[in-house]
Amino acid sequence: KAQNARIKIDVDRIVGEVDSLIYGNFLEHLGRAVYSGAYDPDSPLADEDGFRKDVIQAAKDLNVTQLRYPGGNFVSNYHWQDGVGSDRVPRMELAWGRLESNEFGTNEFMQFTNKIGAKPYFAVNMGTGTMTEAQRWVEYTNVEEGPYYAELRKKHGYEEPWNIKYWSLGNEMDGFWQIGHLNAEDYAKKARETAKVMQLTDPAISLIAAGASNFRPDANPMHWNRVVLEELKNVVDYLALHIYVGNPDNNYYNFLSTPLVLEERTELVEGLIREIMSRADRGDRPSIKIAWDEWNVWYRARAGESMSGERALEERYNLEDALVVAGFLNAFVRNADIVKMANMAQLVNVIAPMYTNENDMFKQTIYYPLQLFSEHTYGTALDVYVDSETYDTERFFVGLGESQTQQSDVPYLDVSASYKDNGEVIINVVNRHKDKAITTDIISQKGKFTGGFKVYEVNGPDVKAQNNFEETNVETEEKSSIQADGSKVTYSFPAHSYTLIKGKITT
Ligand code: AHR
Repeated sequence: KAQNARIKIDVDRIVGEVDSLIYGNFLEHLGRAVYSGAYDPDSPLADEDGFRKDVIQAAKDLNVTQLRYPGGNFVSNYHWQDGVGSDRVPRMELAWGRLESNEFGTNEFMQFTNKIGAKPYFAVNMGTGTMTEAQRWVEYTNVEEGPYYAELRKKHGYEEPWNIKYWSLGNEMDGFWQIGHLNAEDYAKKARETAKVMQLTDPAISLIAAGASNFRPDANPMHWNRVVLEELKNVVDYLALHIYVGNPDNNYYNFLSTPLVLEERTELVEGLIREIMSRADRGDRPSIKIAWDEWNVWYRARAGESMSGERALEERYNLEDALVVAGFLNAFVRNADIVKMANMAQLVNVIAPMYTNENDMFKQTIYYPLQLFSEHTYGTALDVYVDSETYDTERFFVGLGESQTQQSDVPYLDVSASYKDNGEVIINVVNRHKDKAITTDIISQKGKFTGGFKVYEVNGPDVKAQNNFEETNVETEEKSSIQADGSKVTYSFPAHSYTLIKGKITT
């Protein structure tokens, strides 16, 4: 039977401000992300500094607000001094099994980041690195002049400091796979002392602690989060969480429900933050927020051969992946009061929205929902009422070998909304139904919908449709606009689609 639904928008039901930092991305020294992705000096597509012009343009069009670097697992054995100055030192890269030339390092990353118009976000090495090394990195990048490493930067041709604000204290230090993996207590102490020297070097920096990324059955992620937050409650501004989901069993409806897992974890950690903040002494600084600083769909490349080496993690995405990505973004907006930063992992070639070869680049399916959100969804996130039919999932694993879950009452319509003072309202809707359109009354609880509403849709011929160098099967399409006048508009959301509606409410 046909499905109907209702969405109620109330501009007084405020969740919080959508932070533009949720539209961040990630560039790790891994596979073809840096070399032959962002940086390819021998390519005819490179600019005068060796960066791929097509990648820069696509990253600008994606409105990447902040870019995390240099890892990821890579950072836990990365020594930044190998990648600055004229004498670059090739190293064995242990996390992903490559030779790292170090041709691309701190200053090249900063050039690239400036070209795409993003803010930099650095991670320090808490595996084989020392607190001295982290301190010297901040001195090199952020101190104007005087001490040795600030002068070294100038000697390298960069007169002005880069003033990098965001720094994370290591990456996934709770993971047994991490080089230098620690238990929660040891990590928390090491992070606290590393933070101290970094903040003494530049008090303006903002620090991110490595929260739980390991949700396997034998791990105890909330213990990790508790110990880390307790120790660093007066020191850091964010707790980083990571999530990757997949569809290894080829169960569409299970897969489409995976953003709810992120939402559950967000709520769990939010409760913990609140409890610990009640004992914190942070002066004027706001309370700790969540940074989902790695998130994406990642499973085909994981299961295949390309886990390491030059072509590592070259995931190809389809429409159902794009719908899950839209679901993640909806979850960030719905939790805008606590999720203040997020990074799709990663930018190019490696589990990424862009894919290059020597002559060309194409945008994967997941590029389009991220672009629509990052172009339009700002302002105040609203608590939206959704009345839609639901489904229950089977029991399934999230990620590969991670925690088991079963989701009940998953609404076919997944919705978020934001509102600006000028009356602009953005409504993001994923129709998870695989076969049916859902005719929906969208009701304004306060004020009237007025004017022409723009409608953008990401969809494709079927849920497995992919893009490649020759064909774009999944992309954003502008649909005919809706004329609104009154407190209700009715719209039919097609099966397996993501739709963004941009309208106006006059109060
Ligand atoms: O993004 C790929 C990898 O996933 C990162 O290096 C690591 O942090 C995570 O496990």
